[in-house]
Amino acid sequence: MDDKNTSLAGTELRLCRVDAVEDGEGLRVDIEGRAPLAVFRLDEAFFVTDDTCSHGEASLSEGTVENGYVECPWHTGRFCLKTGEALTFPAVTPIRAYKAVVRDGEVFIDTQETPS
Ligand code: FES
Repeated sequence: MDDKNTSLAGTELRLCRVDAVEDGEGLRVDIEGRAPLAVFRLDEAFFVTDDTCSHGEASLSEGTVENGYVECPWHTGRFCLKTGEALTFPAVTPIRAYKAVVRDGEVFIDTQETPS
C-alpha cells in the first residue's frame, strides 16, 4: 500500500479530493496493492465501491450514475451505490461497497471496516 494514501492512524485510505469527482459521475482510483475502487458523487453524497463489475471486467466508474445506483457501461447491469447489491440482470453478484468518509475536502474509506 502506498503511504501517501494512508492517514496517520493507518486505517483510513485517502482516495481523492472531493472536487476531483463531478456530481453524477464516478472516478476510478488505482492504489497499489488493491483492486481498483470507484468513487461516486451523487447529490453531494459520496459512495465508494469496487470499480470492476462483477459480471465482466467493465469499469463501473465509467457507468451511468442516478437514483442511488450505477449502471454498468457494458451490459447495463445495475448496482446499489450504498450496498453494492446487484439490482438488475445480467448483474447478479454484488460488488463491495465501502463507507465513504469526507474530511478536509478529501474522500477516505476505513480499511478496517468490513465492506457491506
Ligand atoms: S460487465 Fe457489467 S453488466 Fe456485464
